[in-house]
Amino acid sequence: MDRQQGSVLWFTGLSGSGKTTTAKAVAAELKARGRLVEMLDGDELRATICKGLGFSREDRFENIKRIAYVSKLLSRNGVVVLVSAITPYEEMRAYARSVIPDYAEIYVNCPLPECEKRDVKGLYAKARSGEIKHFTGVSDPYEEPVRPDITISTDADSVVSNCSKILKWLDDRPRPMQAAH
Ligand code: ADX
Repeated sequence: MDRQQGSVLWFTGLSGSGKTTTAKAVAAELKARGRLVEMLDGDELRATICKGLGFSREDRFENIKRIAYVSKLLSRNGVVVLVSAITPYEEMRAYARSVIPDYAEIYVNCPLPECEKRDVKGLYAKARSGEIKHFTGVSDPYEEPVRPDITISTDADSVVSNCSKILKWLDDRPRPMQAAH
């Protein structure tokens, strides 16, 4: 049987940068091409398999380890996994890259002032007032990715164009993802 290899597209970036929005658009297009697709979203996982984890460096690392583990299980069964999690430390991203056979890192770049202006969940305001501690970008670090496979800019470019850029990168790879038969 011609079983397809899955892939993991790992979206990293600040809260509110557009990780999930972009991942959803890419997921829809991959589904339309007949691929098996699963989205693993930091916020959702923190309510389920990562429940109880906080935002210390250790807890964030544990969060990423669990997400990487599930991603690996799914991708080895042909699923294209789209992860959206801040993943603020390079060490965590290097870890994910090292344990996932087909890992592609997508840096969702959006300047902090723009993320704060959007403040989709109202969390930046709470972080600034001190109600939330250790908030990424405000009172906790976000290390810029040193070797992302793709960088997109969500303040300069549209969801549609970022989605196209990612799909083009996937198609142009030496072993492009192909439609299911
Ligand atoms: S990660 O750092 O471990 O990768 P993850 O992506 O799972 O983070 O979760 C981040 C989400 O948790 C944010 O989008 C936000 O909704 C929420 N959140 C709550 N507290 C914090 C915090 N202190 N820092 C960052 N995000 C937080």
